[in-house]
Amino acid sequence: MKNIYNELTQITSRPRPFQNYNAKKLWADEHISKQMLAFHLDPTNDIASRRASLINKVVAFLTAKLKIRPGSSLIDYGCGPGLYCHRFAKAGVKVTGVDFSERSLKYARAQARKARLNINYIEANYLQFKAKGPFDVATLIYQDFCALPPSQRKVLLASIRRSLTNDGFLVFDVYLKTAFKQRQEGTQFKKNLQGGFWSARKYYEFLQTFVYRKECVLLDKYTIIERNGIKTVYNWLEYFDLAKLKKELAASGFRVVNAYADLTGRALNKTSHEMAVIVRKAR
Ligand SMILES: C[S@@+](CC[C@H](N)C(=O)[O-])C[C@H]1O[C@@H](n2cnc3c(N)ncnc32)[C@H](O)[C@@H]1O
Repeated sequence: MKNIYNELTQITSRPRPFQNYNAKKLWADEHISKQMLAFHLDPTNDIASRRASLINKVVAFLTAKLKIRPGSSLIDYGCGPGLYCHRFAKAGVKVTGVDFSERSLKYARAQARKARLNINYIEANYLQFKAKGPFDVATLIYQDFCALPPSQRKVLLASIRRSLTNDGFLVFDVYLKTAFKQRQEGTQFKKNLQGGFWSARKYYEFLQTFVYRKECVLLDKYTIIERNGIKTVYNWLEYFDLAKLKKELAASGFRVVNAYADLTGRALNKTSHEMAVIVRKAR
């Protein structure tokens, strides 16, 4: 009984904001990455990537708005299976995609080969990677900015800034504080006797959600208990508003030139849960 008590104490313990950040487990683990790739490629859901119809709209909007032309250069940070890279490359853009998921990049490279597209896919952690620019456009799509600790956001912004031309654009999206207000703390327990998302084997899953009101940070802490061990996956998200984001970007030498409700260019309003920004180097 004492062991169960100790384990439950550990499972339900509350880390400091962004403590134990381990995003690679979520995206690059041998089993989990297989499930993630299936979600990325399902054109009807928005779980790991947006659905195909929305991706088409995003690519069309950014192409028109940023005057992306054949021969323009673009780098996609966290490109996953290359859903955006592939579309831009088809339009003649010189594309580089960076991701640390071997499985997603394997798929992306195979798709590029089949379509005879010359896309430079690089398997790397973008927090350590030094891009060979300069690029006209850098993208970081699907709220990846929110998943990073503040110190790592600073590292990434500095690296993106170095990789852009002086007139270049950075485009990314974030969750807004309006969405954060609705989030509640809680514990869920499931038994997966046939295996599932986290493992091919039988496992028990605890999901402990922590809300850090002052910091506007949320943690979904997954504890997966299998016969042979326990793994913990931390999925952190920080929520923003335009003022907070502008301040953070200014500290890294960027200014916001446009803000929208999403990357298709819809107008922001008071109930928007997400925001997409187009950013340039501050002069
Ligand atoms: C939410 S998915 C979005 C994928 C893609 N941008 C899209 O919208 O289709 C996040 C992606 O970022 C990658 N990723 C997360 N952190 C990363 C890091 N530090 N370095 C490289 N890739 C990372 C993951 O492997 C995953 O493919």
